[in-house]
Amino acid sequence: MSLTINVHLLPALVEPRDLADKTVVVIDVLRATTTIIHALAAGANEVIPLLEVDEARELATKLSGQAVLGGERGGKRIDAFHLGNSPLEYTSATVGGKALVFTTTNGTRAMLRCRLARRILIAGFVNYSAVCRELTDEEQIEIVCAGTDGHVTREDTLLAGAIVEDCRRSRKDGFICNDQAEIAADAWRTAVGTLSDRDPLAAALRESRGGRNLLEIGQENDIDIAAQIDLFDIVPELDVAAWRIRLS
Ligand code: MLT
Repeated sequence: MSLTINVHLLPALVEPRDLADKTVVVIDVLRATTTIIHALAAGANEVIPLLEVDEARELATKLSGQAVLGGERGGKRIDAFHLGNSPLEYTSATVGGKALVFTTTNGTRAMLRCRLARRILIAGFVNYSAVCRELTDEEQIEIVCAGTDGHVTREDTLLAGAIVEDCRRSRKDGFICNDQAEIAADAWRTAVGTLSDRDPLAAALRESRGGRNLLEIGQENDIDIAAQIDLFDIVPELDVAAWRIRLS
């Protein structure tokens, strides 16, 4: 079978049935997937991504003291939720040993789009190399970018491009890529080029749609946090049947 990588710059650009039984990487650099990686690294037992605020509240109530409610609407913490969507809020003191019931505007929606997949890996720049390593033996890779409110975003496109570039470098047999994968790889090479160049990445994220949204709500610090390449050597994986994200 030929090796393929397809990038989908928005969830709406791929039908769930086209992801069926595939290995999918979900990206929402600013900030849902970055925050989920931080939460699990901080010792959360699992993350339960849900679409609606009310269903999140309901589940957290059922789980009572064993769960923490986290997420955002409009980038801000939701009324009566314990935590927002800022990665640094997720520490061993806030989520250690607990389940995190989590809802965000775009990130959790992107995960739902992938519900027919065989595997769903959660990626950010903070676990970039670990995700690339996990993909080493995969022959068909689908990368789904969350975007923001139906718009393609630069930050997700850049990470998708970085992953495409790594896959190409690490396999001697070439990958067949869709045009969105080529566009993402071009964007990555133009904006950042190499992983040793960390400052250009933070600068590029600042100029992205998600970055501008965070600047507007005074969460600039989260951009630098999301640009910390390989801060963690972990790969969260969404167990599709259980609908729980855990470390694989
Ligand atoms: C989302 O899922 O929409 C984002 O993570 C938004 C945010 O940065 O809070």
